[in-house]
Amino acid sequence: MNVVVSIGGSVLAPALGANRVEAHAEVIRELADDGCSVGAVVGGGGVAREYITTARDIGANEIELDQLGIGVTRLNARLLIAALGEAVVPAPAKTYEEAGEAIRNGDVCVMGGVAPAQTTDAVSAALAEYTNADLLVYATSVPGVFSADPNEDPHAERFDRLTASELVDVIAGIEMTAGSSAPVDLLAAKIIQRSGMRTIVLDGTEPDRIASAVRYGDHEGTDVIPEGVGDEPTYWAENER
Ligand code: UTP
Repeated sequence: MNVVVSIGGSVLAPALGANRVEAHAEVIRELADDGCSVGAVVGGGGVAREYITTARDIGANEIELDQLGIGVTRLNARLLIAALGEAVVPAPAKTYEEAGEAIRNGDVCVMGGVAPAQTTDAVSAALAEYTNADLLVYATSVPGVFSADPNEDPHAERFDRLTASELVDVIAGIEMTAGSSAPVDLLAAKIIQRSGMRTIVLDGTEPDRIASAVRYGDHEGTDVIPEGVGDEPTYWAENER
């Protein structure tokens, strides 16, 4: 199975801590040992936000802010790389081609951001599309896709299952509400829709949840099922619990 795991910065490093990073690396290593091809994409989290807020106060323009964000995502990617040890590309890949080649060669590859005006949500979807991944997993700090931002709206309900088009509609609705944020952004949702990629959005603060989702399809988040592709990856049926 070829999987891309997107690990939000607030999941990997809400505060810097070796144990948490090592626990995420352990899951990725185990999946690779199981025979999975793994691409990982790491976000910037609170540290990126702090840099961006500070630079905005200084008067930096939006592209400069994005470049700072990209820098932090790549720092976080390097942390994960350090914890992964062998069989991982030693620096964050800067292009999809580079990452794709490494993954084809059997190495684990870690990316951060690649270009301004997007987030690592879109990088993850693009990497999954480029490498023709069987599964894309978003390990976020919220337990799935909700009808509204659960931090803003107490009536927000979690979806167990969405089609890719429904995902686009839900995310577009959330992003139009000032102050709300969605677990996956609209560009990522559009890439998921056009590529027809099976996607899971889950609470990844416990790294073992990522492993269960990849190995067995077991999770308590949201399944995004592409239109016309109802079949589960055969890999899940082959794995015994
Ligand atoms: P994140 O992917 O962590 O963004 O990248 P985010 O969605 O704001 O973070 P979470 O999910 O809430 O934790 C951090 C920042 O880096 C820049 C953007 O400014 C983004 O907000 N970035 C990242 C890019 O400009 N391009 C990229 O490819 C990736």
